[in-house]
Amino acid sequence: MGKIIAIANQKGGVGKTTTTVNLAASLGVLEKKVLLIDADPQANATSGLGIDVDSVELGSYQLFEHTKSAKETIIPTTSPNVDLIPAHIDLVAIEIELVDKDEREYMLKKAIIDLKKDYDYILIDCAPSLGLLTLNALTAADSVIIPIQCEYFALEGLGKLLNTIKSVQRLHNPDLDIEGMLLTMYDSRLRLSNQVVDEVRKHFGDMVFDTVIQRNVRLSEAPSYGESIIKYDAASKGATNYLNMADEIVKKNKQTV
Ligand SMILES: Nc1ncnc2c1ncn2[C@@H]1O[C@H](COP(=O)(O)OP(=O)(O)OP(=O)(O)O)[C@@H](O)[C@H]1O
Ligand SMILES: [Mg+2]
Repeated sequence: MGKIIAIANQKGGVGKTTTTVNLAASLGVLEKKVLLIDADPQANATSGLGIDVDSVELGSYQLFEHTKSAKETIIPTTSPNVDLIPAHIDLVAIEIELVDKDEREYMLKKAIIDLKKDYDYILIDCAPSLGLLTLNALTAADSVIIPIQCEYFALEGLGKLLNTIKSVQRLHNPDLDIEGMLLTMYDSRLRLSNQVVDEVRKHFGDMVFDTVIQRNVRLSEAPSYGESIIKYDAASKGATNYLNMADEIVKKNKQTV
């Protein structure tokens, strides 16, 4: 049975999408079958994988609405072993449309539960908010990866995110685990970057991935070519970092996935 992992942090620009796309591609390289679900109306993961967002007719909107089956919304990508459920800007409407629906937090879970047998990993790229889209992702997920940018105010908002995770565990998904916190955009030359790493490791210990994602310009260039870092520059530091992260996740989940 596959594992569903949400990549979430309501703080914007911390590396959620970069992590989702490149972790998906790296797990694909390790011959795991991966589905990426774009649950962010910004649709950055969709365009980052080379899909023209304007051409998306079926995707996560229909998935959340239950107007199409999950299988009808899945498209292949050029990354080996990686499929995608794309997003479109229309997805913003879901936050409003679901508001007075019964079991509104369970729409995504119900839509994708059957896909667990078809994939080793299902990764959900979340929007920078703790609205219904993200609550659905946390309710559907087995675990959550929290990217933390090695920057000023790195820990800002983290308490609120951890409280949200606790309330999802209490109300909707008692089995939700924290897969790990991932330090991103690390620059060894900066004292600040090193301080953030020390602080996060001191506070959260084993919950933090051993792998740290370095700041690497190739990672920021790849999406404009619609390519993962593996395809864009397999020899880059960014590619090495994400392959190491994939390896860490596979080792950690050896018994279950
Ligand atoms: N390790 C890295 N090195 C260099 N640039 C990076 C790195 N990780 C992410 N970036 C860049 O930082 C910006 C924000 O990253 P990303 O889009 O992954 O964050 P996000 O958390 O998904 O943002 P949002 O909250 O808007 O969804 C992007 O321009 C991305 O290319
Ligand atoms: Mg994003």
